[in-house]
Amino acid sequence: VQTDVPALKDATEVPLGVAVGPQDLTGRPAELLLRHFDQVTPENAMKPVTVQPAEGEFDFGPMDEVLDFAAEHGLTVHGHTLVWHRSTPEWFFQAPDGRPLTGSPEDRSLVLDRLRAHTRAVADHLAERYGDANPVRSWDVVNEALDPEEADGLRHSRWYEVLGPDYVAEAFRVAREELGPDAVLYLNDYDTDAPDRRRGLVRLVMDLQAAGAPVDAVGHQMHVDLDTDVDRVATTLDAVAALGLRQAVTELDVAISGRDEQLDSTPPDRLEAQRGQVQELASAFAARDLAFVGVWGLYDTRSWLRAWPQERPFEAPLLFDDELQAKPAFQGFLDGIAAG
Ligand code: G3I
Repeated sequence: VQTDVPALKDATEVPLGVAVGPQDLTGRPAELLLRHFDQVTPENAMKPVTVQPAEGEFDFGPMDEVLDFAAEHGLTVHGHTLVWHRSTPEWFFQAPDGRPLTGSPEDRSLVLDRLRAHTRAVADHLAERYGDANPVRSWDVVNEALDPEEADGLRHSRWYEVLGPDYVAEAFRVAREELGPDAVLYLNDYDTDAPDRRRGLVRLVMDLQAAGAPVDAVGHQMHVDLDTDVDRVATTLDAVAALGLRQAVTELDVAISGRDEQLDSTPPDRLEAQRGQVQELASAFAARDLAFVGVWGLYDTRSWLRAWPQERPFEAPLLFDDELQAKPAFQGFLDGIAAG
């Protein structure tokens, strides 16, 4: 990998994270990872659907690969995730006979018991494998709970349907009890710059605080694009800071195509616009007190946006290109950090 560019992690005051999977841990991707980043988030390896695909059947294989690498190289880990409707396996909300669970008191306690059992199994595994050297310092406890279309501002997922609106507070209580007093517990969400989602986020955090739920921090996914208004991002960061919580940018990427746009190349002018956008964002991050900044993927080939919302082979939302070379956005990030 390029050694003529500065190491990003040396430029930031806070840990710099990146989402990775087992395929990133050897060869040039691993070199790139170790040169520029000091924290990882397992992109999919710690999701409940990966770790416990069937009740009581655990697969810690992919998670161990990522965490062993982190432990071996002195990287910290942001755990992702415990409660997320998209990565909860279906059995979680089914009775042993296959019946879909309802909001009855029995069904409610079954789901809470399953959440506790899952969280405890992961915590026990980490304690056994790493002891005091557990690299996992923080967790996305609840992911994507917001839905401004709903009257109460909460997404009416299966978690909500079965446990009711208190499920968020309950999840944080379980996480604190099972993961211990030192784990930094995050509420993580996307598009937190949008005014309606910002309001919903602030309201949810205040409700959690009033309920005494042990939420430590807010994660802003930060899946943004070239049209994102960075002033709105900054407004949200300031609003969360005013609540007295810690916060982090957990999943940064900057799409160069619009949501319904299909590019047939990667235009240089878009990469230049991306440089400017990343610079503005990094400067807003550096001017504020964040716990860490995380990027959602090592290099463009590895981005989830290559496959969403359809195949998009020319999407290029990350700091390194398909050849693992630093993009204009890389320089934008450095310049933004220096200006912040
Ligand atoms: O591994 C299988 C492969 O065997 C199969 O052929 C293929 C067919 O669809 O699917 C592959 O699994 C996919 C997996 O990514 C690995 O690439 C899943 O379908 C796909 O759903 C999964 O997507 C992940 C997504 O979360 C859903 O869990 C993305 O990699 C991951 O980047 C994305 O990350 C999320 C965060 O967890 C939460 N915030 C938003 C972010 C982006 O969506």
